Amino acid sequence: MERLQKVIANSGYTSRRHAEILIKEGKVKVNGKIVKELGTKVNINDEIEVEGNSLAKKEDKVYFLLNKPREVISSASDKKGRKTVVSLINTDKRIYPIGRLDYDTTGLLLLTNDGELTNILMHPKNEVPKTYVAKIEGNLSPKEFYSLKKGLIIENRKVIPNYVKVRKSIQDKYDIVEITIVEGRNHIIKKIFESLHHSVIKLKRQSYAFLTLDNLKSGEYRELSIKEVKKLYSLHK
Ligand code: URA
Repeated sequence: MERLQKVIANSGYTSRRHAEILIKEGKVKVNGKIVKELGTKVNINDEIEVEGNSLAKKEDKVYFLLNKPREVISSASDKKGRKTVVSLINTDKRIYPIGRLDYDTTGLLLLTNDGELTNILMHPKNEVPKTYVAKIEGNLSPKEFYSLKKGLIIENRKVIPNYVKVRKSIQDKYDIVEITIVEGRNHIIKKIFESLHHSVIKLKRQSYAFLTLDNLKSGEYRELSIKEVKKLYSLHK
């Protein structure tokens, strides 16, 4: 049995605080009846409806691994009418991406309707590693490479990569750098290289935790297996 507001928040529908407001306002039903008491305990068999929307139960959860193309936005909808990652996936579930990749970034993006897993993967304490391949303008000097390896202060917080390797270096043109970080801040890879005065020309995420793109082509996706979902849950510290 869990508290109603926690179950609503864990579903990803809204924050716990907002769930409490909705409960007090009489916008939440449990098994068809309006419930206004904040401490109400519910279990997995209870039908919960918030503002007329029924909350997905565990068995209705879906998990997709997408190879995100360029020029697609990492959200469920876009005011400017740009193509969204959600529109690339054929499902009737209300899914959303776990974190973001920039409009011009490609690669591995997870999408789900499981708020509890989203919270686990997004929480900094769980330190989920993400590996990117960045094509950067110019070449990293040995000094720059060393300071990158040691860690850089980006907007008052230090980022120490778990792994960095220059995969390819074309003199006076560009470097291809593989970098693994556990950070999730927006634009973090671009900010890292910009702090070293190299702009990122191309960026791809090639792995997320133990998941890789395998043979998925740009725009293709697959569902995660139950084993993979359980393994992602086990990243909870
Ligand atoms: N870092 C970035 O700069 N962009 C992304 O899309 C992901 C990480």
